[in-house]
Formats: sequence, structure tokens, C-alpha cells
Amino acid sequence: MRYLPIDNQLFSQNRQRLTNLLKPKSLVVVNANDIMPTNADGTMGFRQNNDLFYLTGVDQEETRLVLFPEHPDPKFREILFLRETSELIEIWEGHKLTKTEAEQTTGIPQKQIYWTHQFEQVFIQLVFEADYVYLNTNEHTRAGIEVQTQDARYIVEFRQKYPLHHLERLAPLMHYLRAIKQPMEIPLIQTAIDITNKMFRRLLGFIKPGVWEYEIEAEMMHEFIKNRSRGAAYTPIIASGANACVLHYIDNSQQCQDGDVILLDIGAEYANYNADMTRSVPVNGRFTTRQRAVYDAVLRVMNEAKQMLRPGNLWDDYHREVGKVMESELIGLGLLDRDKVANQDLDAPLYKKYFMHGTSHFLGLDVHDVGNKYRKMEPGMVFTVEPGIYIREEKLGIRLENNVVITESGNTDLMANIPVEADEIEELMNK
Ligand code: GLY
Ligand code: MN
Ligand code: MN
Repeated sequence: MRYLPIDNQLFSQNRQRLTNLLKPKSLVVVNANDIMPTNADGTMGFRQNNDLFYLTGVDQEETRLVLFPEHPDPKFREILFLRETSELIEIWEGHKLTKTEAEQTTGIPQKQIYWTHQFEQVFIQLVFEADYVYLNTNEHTRAGIEVQTQDARYIVEFRQKYPLHHLERLAPLMHYLRAIKQPMEIPLIQTAIDITNKMFRRLLGFIKPGVWEYEIEAEMMHEFIKNRSRGAAYTPIIASGANACVLHYIDNSQQCQDGDVILLDIGAEYANYNADMTRSVPVNGRFTTRQRAVYDAVLRVMNEAKQMLRPGNLWDDYHREVGKVMESELIGLGLLDRDKVANQDLDAPLYKKYFMHGTSHFLGLDVHDVGNKYRKMEPGMVFTVEPGIYIREEKLGIRLENNVVITESGNTDLMANIPVEADEIEELMNK
């Protein structure tokens, strides 16, 4: 792996934290992701299943974890199955984990590590002792599930082989755990953010009238990859001028024009953790008066929203309050009428015309990380804060996005070192 080794205490502790949530006499099975096909014999790059990574640290395909914390025989309490390598695999694909390396990575003793093809013979010794079997599904509330994952295939297989077993949903437990970042996870997210910071500072010296959006993307990739990142945490949005008003603009194909603002929604991945940053900068290094007014309005909303990210607050209340702050900024910019706002339909507030997305989402191993929006905010949760104002008639879209971790007394901005004040951006661009 490109990233530096992670202390396996993180993964052992995560397994213990999951164990604490299970019903008595429970068995858990978690699968790796598949390597997805492209066309013909092509494949996409491998991306591990985040739950499996969270519980093991194993970043390799065809891996399976089985937990049975109350099994009478201690050697069946934690079991890992790995793809067995061969000379052929070594020649064509390269090195795969040995059992010794897997013990080092996961903290699971070597004698409890088997090859994947031994699964059935081992599993049959456990499964009939279990009263509950937890299997994994994708329960992200915004997921569009069109592809059957290894976890999903395994549910079908399990039901067929053991039709009378009582199945339980693993996903709610994983969401509950992963929503609160462990102390060892924060530096991993911070590393992704620090790489993003370096990348952004590089871009400030590169962006000027005439450069193409994809040239900026190339600069981004250079800085990410040379810093041990696999690349971008998500498809980057590099949107100049009117493109910034297309929320999911990812074509990045246009030339940047003098006088435009360019919106950069780009974050690095590091060790499967993610940064999610947005900055909006003037292509020629100086905001116009109007651009600056909109920019400062968005920055004020971000700063006020940050104040509201604190323990005990609820997601929906927070979003409603941020909406009010945005409303008053939009009135100040002459975009909304105060009287019309006073009489608006509260289920369809007028500010949505200019700010049509949410302000925050959980962030972690997934960019839109798992977590329950009805759970009160707690220390250890990591959120984005990302207000924006999109004015299509002015070909202007400005969004700012930072990442914060909730603390006992409020939150810490993990992006505090990434330039965001308009004066500082202009100064760095004109150095
Ligand atoms: N970059 C994706 C988002 O901001 O949610
Ligand atoms: Mn973003
Ligand atoms: Mn985001």
C-alpha cells in the first residue's frame, strides 16, 4: 500500500466495539468488495469494503471476516479468510498478504487465518452454534443499489444454505460505530486534509486566465499521488464561470476566462479516508466587488454554521437554522425579497433557489459517510460544512467547504490551515 502502516490496535478495538453491540450467541460475516469490470477483460481499481477495512485493515480483494465472540472455542471467535496466493498470481498481480503479514495488519492471530477456499469447512463448525447471524447490506439513505456486492451475494447464498437461521442487519451497528471517529482515525483524515491543503496552495499559483479546467485537475492529481494518496476522494468538480452552477459538474473541460470565479470541490484520499474541500477563487487573482460580496456572504454562513455544530444538536434543526442565516444573506445580496421571505411556504423556503443542497454530511471512510441523522451530534463525529450560493443569471457559483470534528465544547476545524479568507486567497494568487 502507498499509505504508511496503521496501528492494528485501531482494528482490534473496532472489532471489540462491534462485539459489545451484538446480541448473545451472534455470528458476523463481512466480505470484501469485488473488483469491478470495465469492458472486455478490463477492471477498475480495487476499493475495499469500508466495513471490512474498519474491522480488519485488510486492503485486499477476496477477504472475509467472521466474528463469533461467544463461541466456546476461542480459536473460532475471530477468523479471517484471505486469498491464497500462487506463483502465477505473484507473477501477474504481485504480492498478496501472507498470514504473518495479515496478523500484523489485523491483530488476528495467525492460527485463526485461513485461505478463502477453506471457508466452508471452517464455517460449518461455527454456524450451528449461532442464534443470530449478522450480515451486511448497504443501508446508506442515498445509495442507488444497482450492483450486487459480494456482501449481497453472500446473503443469498447464506439463506439458501441455512434457511432456518435468524438473520440480523449489521449495517445499523456499523453506522453507529463509524459515526464516531476513534482517536486513531482523526490523524488519517487529517493526513488526507493536509495533502489537500498542499494541493490547493499549488493550484493558487497555477490558476490564471487561459488555463483549462483539466489542466488544474492534472496539477491536483500530481500533488495527491506524490503524497501517498491513491488520488481524489471523489470525482473532482473543477467548474469555472457558469459551470459552478451545475452542482455535479465533473466534465472539467472548459477554458478558464478572465473575470470568472472557479469552484474547486476536490479532496484527497489517504488510507481509504477522505478529505472533502471546496474553494472558490477568482481566475485572474482578484474578485470583483460583486463576487467578493457573494464570497463573503458564503463565508459568513460557513462560520455561523460551524458555531452550530456542537454536541447535543440535531441534524434537522441545524439545517433549518443554517437556512435562516442563508436567507438573510440572500436578502442582503438583493437576491431575495424580505417580504416574500416573511410569507414563504416553510416546506419550500425561497433560499433553496440559490442554495439547493444540504449544509453538512458525515465524512470518513466514505465521503458521504454512514451515520444516522436522527442521532444527536456527539464528540468524535466528523462533518463537512459546505454552504454555497449559485446565481445562474450571473454565471456565478460560490461554495466553501471545510471539515470539522465535534469536540466536548464545540468543534475543531480540521481545515483551519487551508486558506479561505478572500484577502489571503488573493494575496497567495498574486505572490
Ligand atoms: N464532494 C462531494 C460533496 O461535497 O458532498
Ligand atoms: Mn465537496
Ligand atoms: Mn461534501
